[in-house]
Amino acid sequence: MQQMIDQIRQQADSELESAQDSKTLNDFRVKFLGRKGPVQQLMKELKGVSSEERPAAGKAINDLKQYIEKRCCQLEEQVVSKELEEQLEKEVIDVTLPGRSRFLGGKHLLHQELDHIVDILVSMGFSVQDGPHIEGEWYNFEALRITKDHPARDMQDTFYIDPETVLRTHTSNVQPRIMEANKPPIRVIVPGRAFRNEDVSARSHVFFHQIEGFYIDKGVTFADLFGTMNDFLHKLFGKKVPTRFRPSYFPFVEPGMEVDVSCFLCDGKGCPVCKKTGWLEVAGAGMIHPGVLENCDIDPEEYSGYAWGMGLERLVMIKHGIDDIRLFTQNDMRFLRQFVGM
Ligand code: DAH
Repeated sequence: MQQMIDQIRQQADSELESAQDSKTLNDFRVKFLGRKGPVQQLMKELKGVSSEERPAAGKAINDLKQYIEKRCCQLEEQVVSKELEEQLEKEVIDVTLPGRSRFLGGKHLLHQELDHIVDILVSMGFSVQDGPHIEGEWYNFEALRITKDHPARDMQDTFYIDPETVLRTHTSNVQPRIMEANKPPIRVIVPGRAFRNEDVSARSHVFFHQIEGFYIDKGVTFADLFGTMNDFLHKLFGKKVPTRFRPSYFPFVEPGMEVDVSCFLCDGKGCPVCKKTGWLEVAGAGMIHPGVLENCDIDPEEYSGYAWGMGLERLVMIKHGIDDIRLFTQNDMRFLRQFVGM
């Protein structure tokens, strides 16, 4: 038995000499200490040893096992640290290389600009309200004096859900809702989506955003509307951009007007973008019609108010020189990336 033990020890020693990496070391461990290895074999043979010799033989086998285990552990420490060193040597980090920047998502251009617009108007004393996209005819049309035979009702313009329900064609639907539920003074803006059944083109889309605004109190005049529009547009476009107010007609205001800013591309000289007029239209506005106030139980003898509706896409297109409204919804990263985190 002792002879076999010595032989195994010698064989283990010689094999360990050449075990220079963790894989060989592992194989060695399995080969010598595993279930089918020589050490276990010796354990089995212990049964055949006489009872006097058995304790000594058992101890000798245990010593052998511990010896092999100890040598394995020592060698493993050396091998692992050597391998680590080699790996570190190979993995040289060049700290002078330029960093790899990651593309971070960001707010859509329309929402960045909307936030800016809302900030300006809130700083001017307006509070922000919301309203439904799916709307009854009363709020979208009737209460605003858009009668049944008005061209705006045409099937070509309006998405009807059923004969009395539409996708709101403008954010003006929120005007009567708020007037009904509140007593003046009311000074509110309503940013939101609107829908029109139009052909999609570079200039028009089936859905877009508007910012409705209105102010009702005692003694509100046209001069207040001019002042507010001018202040707002100057804050938005960051310079004293010339503005122009043209008479126009909307059933829910009297008098009504359209608001233009001087064309940013040609500085008002006339170019294809402004159709040679030198002006770009940015809003419809006017003094709220007494009939609308009456429809909402506000006495027009006591109160007056102004209102406006602006197209968000249009304002943003003008500000950034964007020539196609479809770009806002096409999710083309080449377009969107230009405006991340402005
Ligand atoms: N609702 C109108 C539209 O979508 C825009 C508008 C014009 C809103 C005049 C107003 C206003 O509040 O006073 O074309």
